Amino acid sequence: MASAFGADWQTRHVATRVVEMETTPSTQLEARRMIELGDADGVLVIAHRQTAGRGRLGREWVSPDGGNLYLSFILRPRRPVSEWHQFTMMAALALAEAMEATAAVVVQLKWPNDLMIDRAKVAGILAEVADAYVIVGVGVNVNADLPAELAEAVSLKQAAHRPVNTRELLRRFVIQFDGYYDSSLRGATFEQAWAARLYTLGKAVRARVGEREIVGIAETVDATGALWIRTAEGTRISCPAGEVTLRW
Ligand code: BTN
Repeated sequence: MASAFGADWQTRHVATRVVEMETTPSTQLEARRMIELGDADGVLVIAHRQTAGRGRLGREWVSPDGGNLYLSFILRPRRPVSEWHQFTMMAALALAEAMEATAAVVVQLKWPNDLMIDRAKVAGILAEVADAYVIVGVGVNVNADLPAELAEAVSLKQAAHRPVNTRELLRRFVIQFDGYYDSSLRGATFEQAWAARLYTLGKAVRARVGEREIVGIAETVDATGALWIRTAEGTRISCPAGEVTLRW
């Protein structure tokens, strides 16, 4: 059957097999199911619509039909877990570059995993670990109209002032991600390129880490992707990506 997403690329590591779905509760859940069945390394699960899309920190990811991207890469890295955050960085960079090339927009990253255009969120990444696998879930507001309650979000179509070719965007994203994955096997790391796109650095931020609220200036990110905030008292506090919400 022909792929509605044009999935006929030749890749070596990511999206070597593509499972397309019309509707699913969540491609992350589908990915977990496939991992349980075994032999899932390299599978890309992609859907036109999700009925229970999930974002970071238990939030909902609104996932209507209409030309958006909802997908999960399943990867079985032959690298220590301590290096798996690199996959999120690679995905964020590859997606930012694909969006810029396809829609002629400028994309920045908001720490830890948001892709932004003019301070409005256009895409998000949710990385989860399941057994020996990492599932890199990606949602992109491409062409579908955004619900009114998502006031701080933007679609690529709005930003580009024209409909955006979803297939072309996906193709560029997958091929770039695959290229980065390949480079990582030869020792490349991505935190510097990732940090260079982060507009969070240098800004006044308010972060919640568990029960604790930290207010200060976002100073740097370290090799693990953690954000270091300097408080008014001069203390430097590290915020691990998984547990923090940022506001400013
Ligand atoms: C975030 O910014 O909070 C991350 C959003 C991740 C959403 C994607 S859509 C495809 C995949 N399936 C899900 O249920 N969530 C991720």
